[in-house]
Amino acid sequence: MCGIIGYIGNKPATPILIEGLRRLEYRGYDSAGIAVIENDAVCRVRMPGKVEKLAAKIAQHQFEGTIGIGHTRWATHGKPSEANAHPHANGDESIMLIHNGIIENHQSLCSQLTGRGYHFTSETDTEVMAHLIDDAYRGDLVQAVKQALGQVTGTYGLVVMHTRHPDQLVAARRGSPMVLGVGDGEMLLASDVSAFLRLTNKVVYLEDDDIVSVTTKDFTIDTLAGEQVQRDAEPIEWQDNAADLEGFPHYMLKEIFEQPETITNAIRGRLVESEGMAHFGGLDDVLEEGMKAAQHLVIISCGTSYYAGLYARYVFEKLTDLIVEVEIASEMRYRKTNIRPGTVVLAISQSGETADTVAAMREAERKGALLLGLVNVVGSTISRMTKAGVYNHGGPEIGVASTKIFISQCCILAMMALLHGRFNHLSVTDGMEVVNGLMRLPDHIHRVLKEANHIHAIAAKYAQANNFLFIGRKYNYPMALEGALKLKEISYIHAEGCAAGEMKHGFIAMIDENFPTVCLATRDTTYEKTVSNMQEIKSRNGRIIAIATEGDDEIGDIADDVIYTPATLDFLQPIPAVVALQLFAYYCAMERGCDIDQPRNLAKSVTVE
Ligand code: AGP
Repeated sequence: MCGIIGYIGNKPATPILIEGLRRLEYRGYDSAGIAVIENDAVCRVRMPGKVEKLAAKIAQHQFEGTIGIGHTRWATHGKPSEANAHPHANGDESIMLIHNGIIENHQSLCSQLTGRGYHFTSETDTEVMAHLIDDAYRGDLVQAVKQALGQVTGTYGLVVMHTRHPDQLVAARRGSPMVLGVGDGEMLLASDVSAFLRLTNKVVYLEDDDIVSVTTKDFTIDTLAGEQVQRDAEPIEWQDNAADLEGFPHYMLKEIFEQPETITNAIRGRLVESEGMAHFGGLDDVLEEGMKAAQHLVIISCGTSYYAGLYARYVFEKLTDLIVEVEIASEMRYRKTNIRPGTVVLAISQSGETADTVAAMREAERKGALLLGLVNVVGSTISRMTKAGVYNHGGPEIGVASTKIFISQCCILAMMALLHGRFNHLSVTDGMEVVNGLMRLPDHIHRVLKEANHIHAIAAKYAQANNFLFIGRKYNYPMALEGALKLKEISYIHAEGCAAGEMKHGFIAMIDENFPTVCLATRDTTYEKTVSNMQEIKSRNGRIIAIATEGDDEIGDIADDVIYTPATLDFLQPIPAVVALQLFAYYCAMERGCDIDQPRNLAKSVTVE
């Protein structure tokens, strides 16, 4: 969602802020702005629309200031406009502030401040913070921020600067990420590391309730409660070039093509071929209670990560005797659940920051569950909330539509199922077969990627359809949901995913010659049933695109178009199949001229409820 970048150092801040905002664009936003302190005054430029527009406007000025803050805003309170864009200011514009999150009690604070003569110029919840800090300011900026934060309820990651402190940035976090980058004579603050990776890879992850005061050379952290804390800078592995396009027209396509490598990174060092076994260093501490003895697993996640969880349920059911439930985090957090001590709760999240997943985890923790995580972003909130967990090691995923990390999640979840299965009844030979299947996946995905031109041609044929149905059974059912979600997200074509068996219970009413169906019909025990569903569609003049297993020549008699994927173990077949669906969605969006990496209204990490 919104993106934050702050800079204090020895170089002009403006180009660094603009480049940081460019690197944060993938998070989703609809307005942007920066403010720089120069000659004891603030230069602020904000506007709705893209960072490029902001950069063009700023190019008309020669800002030389070496301290500044920048923000990309994803509208929650008030439409995208200049007045609502960050940075926000107090009345005399001596205080500038950028904020991610939501101040829940902003209305009552706003009434109190208005009663004391404060004047508001935006519809945002954020502006109240600038006035609160102004109200509390007695010469010490950290103290003023602390006092202001003491009055707010809600979530925040914020950075503040004051013209009377041109050598200091103050930042704080609660429920919204904030990282400090430690450079040589310069410091950066950001909502995620990709904003400044090109300048430093030494990072301090702030914890909830931390307040950090930053100068060009140093930083001190204390908490809202007034305790001084020591947090050391850690080097991070991600390479800055991971965030470059490397010749691809979009990050989404680049990430789709990276998937063989993403899987290799996910399985590297984690499979023991000779024992038909998986091993995760991050789970060693909980192997007994979490992996050997567990009987009840609850998976919580949102969106695409939720579909990875749905897929995992089938795989766990195949390889283990675990009782597995999969919950949408935003529903689970308000339900009475059967989570209790002994339940293992696994949170899946690419970003590690999804607000609903974080809240559902807090609920699960309260009920005594053992919390595990499967997360891509190292040091993220979810990774730090769990007792143990597994990283995807997938590198940054920039495209708003998740692709490579979904694939990585599915592989890692299959490995976790293998681990539990082998501790229980799964034989070594069955285990070896699973290991072998997983190791061949990168090659299988390569073969689907070679079909990109063929998939593009099919997408071009169907891209003008206004509606799509995606169907699949068993392991392919979550992939049908994921295929529909990908298409909706980036092409804005209405698409529904359904369990193939459910089609006749309602969805089939929509089928006609203008309503194509993508049928996931890879070879498994449900293949014949899915083919029957395809016949039903055909009889109603529906057009069919089939995703089928190589060698299945008969399917071409029913389907109008076929995309073949390599044969492998039944429960791994959906993984190459979903790569075909990602490419299909990508090319449909391209044919429709959509903004693929920054689809409208969407954000990469959803840090509000
Ligand atoms: C994926 O394409 C979506 N943009 C979205 O559904 C995403 O998967 C969801 O918001 C969950 O995100 P997370 O994995 O970072 O928790």
